[in-house]
Amino acid sequence: MEKTVAVLHGDGIGKEVMHSALKVLRSIGRRFDHTFKVKTGLIGGVAIDEVGDPLPRETIELCEKCDAILLGAVGGPKWDQNPSHLRPEKGLLAIRKHFELFANLRPVKAVPGMVEASPLKEHLVRQVDMMIVRELTGGLYFGEPKRKTDNDAVDTLTYTRKEIERIVEKAFGLARIRKGKVTSVDKANVLESSKLWREVVEEKKVKYPDVELEHILVDAAAMKLITQPSSFDVVVTENLFGDILSDEASVITGSLGMLPSASIRSDGFGLYEPVHGSAPDIAGLNIANPSAAILSVAMMLKYSFGMETEAVAVEEAVYSVYKDGYCTNDVKKDGYRVLTTTEFTEKVMEELEREHVSD
Ligand code: NAD
Ligand code: IPM
Ligand code: MN
Repeated sequence: MEKTVAVLHGDGIGKEVMHSALKVLRSIGRRFDHTFKVKTGLIGGVAIDEVGDPLPRETIELCEKCDAILLGAVGGPKWDQNPSHLRPEKGLLAIRKHFELFANLRPVKAVPGMVEASPLKEHLVRQVDMMIVRELTGGLYFGEPKRKTDNDAVDTLTYTRKEIERIVEKAFGLARIRKGKVTSVDKANVLESSKLWREVVEEKKVKYPDVELEHILVDAAAMKLITQPSSFDVVVTENLFGDILSDEASVITGSLGMLPSASIRSDGFGLYEPVHGSAPDIAGLNIANPSAAILSVAMMLKYSFGMETEAVAVEEAVYSVYKDGYCTNDVKKDGYRVLTTTEFTEKVMEELEREHVSD
């Protein structure tokens, strides 16, 4: 198969982990006889510096011509004082909105051999396998009015029935092919938008009698994610709650550097990026964990290209490196050898080659 991928490195460790992701993508191409063409574009701080726009028109046009988008991360202290329209994060929000990538899938899975890397007790973490389904193009991030003066500031939380319906459908559909349970997270005891959210979830449930449904308030969900993480299967929630809960859930795996994500729409087109940001505190040191970026490639292969076997090969290669006793600085554990970003990536590629030989 031939596919063209838009590659947007972005800022900080975004650039470093993208190099890892692309090496792995090329390995997959060689092993499975696919041609992956790569077209690079600007987004985030680097785009502001070079052309004065966090999401240049050329980048959108480039992405429109591609089969999927791979993104590193955006942001950094250099641009933190910029006005809102000139912030790197604005580019990320704009690309999600432009392509209507409303469904953000963030899998959180205990990595075999790495459960001790979590600060949580091993028995809590061992069985964890959940999918956070975060609504990505609505809610407080995009609601109008949105403004700030010296004396007051406004953000607006709005959701339409249609926006809720499509994300909830996605969650029920996923639960059906996973463990058969949906947990809907809201704040229906206070927020009007959450009351509508809960009503829509209840209505949709009728079409999925085989799926178990629970509603949980977001504050309680934040607690249960730590005390009983293995009780979750599919977790569906609005944009901001999903952002916060997914960073919290990264603690289960030991590091943000482990969590990939897919932002997709109904026709399968998608943007794939790690859950983490540009990590200015470790940028340029070649110590970032590239697992999240590499596993995001696996999600692209699966969700946008229908390449299930290739996706599993990538996942298994990453897991094997951990099983063989290697890790990066963020998830170091006793007896393991800590590798740099490039060394860890080389190991993943070696595993892919090894799996190939034994095919
Ligand atoms: P962050 O995710 O960049 O970093 C949080 C902590 O996790 C840091 O200590 C960092 O070193 C660590 N970390 C993150 N990824 C890691 C990896 N792969 N390997 C090892 N350690 C890793 O969040 P932040 O510091 O709050 O934000 C930094 C910048 O990134 C901000 O400008 C923010 O807006 C931006 N951001 C961008 C995205 C994105 O592009 N999708 C996501 C989150 C934050
Ligand atoms: C994420 C990030 C973004 C978000 C920021 C950088 C705009 O935190 O992808 O999780 O809040 O969605
Ligand atoms: Mn986030």
